[in-house]
Amino acid sequence: MAVARKRGDALGVAVLGMGNVGAEVVRTLHEHAEELNRRIGMALELRGVAVRDPHRNRGLPERLLTTDAEALVARSDVDLVVEVIGGIDPARRLIRSALEAGKSVVTANKALLADYTGELAAAAENHGADLYFEAAVAGAIPIVRPLIQSLSGDRVNRVVGIVNGTTNFILSAMADTGAGYAEMLADAQRLGYAEADPSADVDGLDAAAKAAILASLAFHTRVTAGDVHREGMSRITAADLRTAAELGCTVKMLAVCERVDAGPGEPTPEAGGKERVAVRVHPALIPRAHPLAGVDAAFNAVVVEAENAGRLMFYGQGAGGAPTASAVMGDLVMAARNKVFGGRAPGESSYAELPIAPFDDVLTRHHLTLNVTDRAGALAAVASEFARRGVSIATVRQRLTGTLAQLTVVTHRARESVLAEIAAALCELDSVTSVTSVLRLEGTEE
Ligand code: NDP
Ligand code: HSE
Repeated sequence: MAVARKRGDALGVAVLGMGNVGAEVVRTLHEHAEELNRRIGMALELRGVAVRDPHRNRGLPERLLTTDAEALVARSDVDLVVEVIGGIDPARRLIRSALEAGKSVVTANKALLADYTGELAAAAENHGADLYFEAAVAGAIPIVRPLIQSLSGDRVNRVVGIVNGTTNFILSAMADTGAGYAEMLADAQRLGYAEADPSADVDGLDAAAKAAILASLAFHTRVTAGDVHREGMSRITAADLRTAAELGCTVKMLAVCERVDAGPGEPTPEAGGKERVAVRVHPALIPRAHPLAGVDAAFNAVVVEAENAGRLMFYGQGAGGAPTASAVMGDLVMAARNKVFGGRAPGESSYAELPIAPFDDVLTRHHLTLNVTDRAGALAAVASEFARRGVSIATVRQRLTGTLAQLTVVTHRARESVLAEIAAALCELDSVTSVTSVLRLEGTEE
C-alpha cells in the first residue's frame, strides 16, 4: 500500500534511460528542485540514472550513473521510477520489478503500453503502486489524464488525432512545397524529425500504439496495437496533395478510434447486442475547415467527441525531449504527491470489454481518382460498380486530357469491405486505364 510520508523526508527517484527524454527529466529535477519540493511537499532526490554507456559525459556525477538498472530499481531508497528507455524488454521487466516492490512508475513507453497495459496495471493494483503514462501519447499534450479523469463521467464516442509528428511534418511539407514523399522524408531526416529507419513513423506503427492506448482509455476496453488497422503514408503522392487542395481538403495521417454498431446480423445495442470498437491509422483527406487540418509541421492534436462535452481539441508538441519531459514530470509530481498524502492514481478501467470490429465493417467515405477512356458509357460503367453494391456517390469530377478523362469520385459512407471491392472492380473495367489513388475522406458527416 502507498504509505504517507513524514514531512522532511525525501522521495528517491530512479531514472531509467538518459536519452532525449531522460536527459530533460534529469535536468528538470535538478533545475526545479525547490519548486518541485514545494508542489509535492517533499523533496525529490535523484538516486541514480540507468544508461547503456556510463562513460559518456552527461554532466552528472559518475556515482549517479549505472548500467545495472535492475539493481537501481531494487534500491531501498528508491520510491519512484521513471522509465524512459523505450522498447519492450528490459523496460517491461524493470517496470514490473518496480511495481511489485510497491514503487510507483512513470513511463513514456507507448510501444510497451500498447500491448502490456493490462499486465502492468494489474501489477500496480496488486502492490499498491501507481502507473502513470501521460507522455506515452502525444508528448506534452495532456490527453491521457483528460480521458481517464476529466471525462470519466461522460461517454466518449470518438477520438481522432494526429499523433505522429514525423508524418505530419512530411505531409505538411508536401502540401506546402508540392514536393514528393521521398524528398520530404529526406528533409525530415536531415532536420532530425525522422529516424534513419523511418518505418515506425511512416508505416504507422508509432501512431497505432498511441491509438491503441487512446481507444483503451476512451472506451474502457483493452485494445492492443495488433487490434489497430494500419496503413502507412509512403504511397501518398504530390498529386494526391494537389487533388486534395482542389477539393478544399488536405491529407493527414489520422488515428481514428470509434464505436461502431454490432456486427451484421447481430442484435443492435438497443436490442441487447454489443456495440464494438474500431481503431485505425491511415492517411485520409480532411476538409480544410476541420480543426485537425490546421495542425501543421511536427505538431500533434487530438479531437475527442463525447456525449455531453461535445467536441474537445487538445493541441501541442507531440514529441521532443523537453515537451515529453513536461508530461513525465507532471506524472512524477502526481505519483510523488500520492506517496506524500497517501492517494492512489486511478487504475485501469476495461470493464466494458467491447469486441473489436474488423476493419471491413467500418463505415468510411472513399475518394478515388481514376483514368478512363473518354468514350460513351465509360462514366456509366464506373457508376454502375458503385450502384450495384448499393454505394451512393456524393460527387464526381471529370477532367479531360486528350483521349483520357480523369475522374475523381467521392462516395457517401459505406462499409469499408464494399468500397475496397469497388476499387478492385474498377481496375478490371475495360474503360478504366488506371486507378491512381484511393483515399478515405474523414471529418465530414455524410
Ligand atoms: P533514446 O533512445 O534517446 O534514449 C534511450 C535511453 O535509454 C538512452 O539513454 C540509453 O542509454 C538508455 N538505455 C537503452 N537501453 C538500456 C538498458 N538496457 N539499460 C539502461 N539504459 C538503457 O529514447 P527517447 O528518450 O527518445 O525515448 C524514451 C522513451 O520515451 C521511449 O519509450 C519513447 O517511445 C518515449 N517517447 C519519446 C519521445 C521523443 O520525442 N523522443 C516522445 C514521446 C515518447 P545510452 O544513452 O547509454 O544509449
Ligand atoms: N516519432 C514520434 C513522432 C515521436 O514523430 O511523433 C515519439 O512518439
